Amino acid sequence: MARVLVTRPLTEGGTDPLLQAGHQVVEPEGGHPPSPVELMALAADCDGMVCHLTDRIDQPLLECGAAGRLRVVANAAVGYDNIDVPAAYRLGITVCNTPGVLDDTTADLAFLLILAATRLASPSEDDLRHGRWTGWGFGDHLARDVHGKTLGLVGFGRIGRAVAHRAAGFDMEVIHTARHDTLAAGFVPKLEELLARSDIVSLHVPLSDATFHLIGAHELAHMKPTAVLVNTARGPVVDEDALVDALEAGRLYAAGLDVFTGEPNVNPRLLTAPRTTLLPHIGSATIETRTRMARLACQGVCDVLADRIPPNAIPLPAQSG
Ligand code: GLV
Repeated sequence: MARVLVTRPLTEGGTDPLLQAGHQVVEPEGGHPPSPVELMALAADCDGMVCHLTDRIDQPLLECGAAGRLRVVANAAVGYDNIDVPAAYRLGITVCNTPGVLDDTTADLAFLLILAATRLASPSEDDLRHGRWTGWGFGDHLARDVHGKTLGLVGFGRIGRAVAHRAAGFDMEVIHTARHDTLAAGFVPKLEELLARSDIVSLHVPLSDATFHLIGAHELAHMKPTAVLVNTARGPVVDEDALVDALEAGRLYAAGLDVFTGEPNVNPRLLTAPRTTLLPHIGSATIETRTRMARLACQGVCDVLADRIPPNAIPLPAQSG
């Protein structure tokens, strides 16, 4: 019987693939998330690991695992910037993620932020909750329309495409940019051009060295002062201080963010920035989707432990493009 570490509780039924394959599920003691030191000790004593985007799976941890019998790490998330994938492959450890099962749920959330940020839902609700609403006013709480506007998608993978699909129902013009020509309608080769043309910009790129602070002061300066920025990708894709500067100066209309640099801490300037909707990284957080993600991650572990190549194995870094 193989031992599989599950670093934090999954949704009900999430570990079914492991249990059905007869593996022992190992959970950190005390029910609290393991410290890096605890994680190392546990990794050294397990054949597989199901972890989360909040676990830092770095080279020292992977070396501890490889010195034991760790063969596979499965992130219960689609993004895997928390894992040193090249180090894992050097050490003979397969890495899996959860592609394909959270696209619609995350796209729903991106659209929620597109609507909430553009219609100033959070500041308006805040007025109501804090007794500042004195009655219906023709000129009060005026925001901007979503329908009929131009939506610029930065990144056009599965989630970006699912957002584009939703935008069609709002009669939006959808344009997108990506590292390579997608050959799809609406492709714009230059980020600056996309930013300048869009009324709403939504980010759908993974975090990497190439996308760190992809949206900074220079890029924000290309956006219309009436434009809205939505980020459901990863916090560090946006330079948050530059974003707050733009919002405070009225050089950007509004922002909707589900992800932050240094989560769960949030840049205090964002908390007081005008016209923002902030959510606590809930892009894929529905019961159905989290259960699918848990099962897919666990199935990846089962596959590797049964000497099968899981469909959700992240390709060797040299092959990924
Ligand atoms: C969530 O952010 C994920 O990467 O799955």
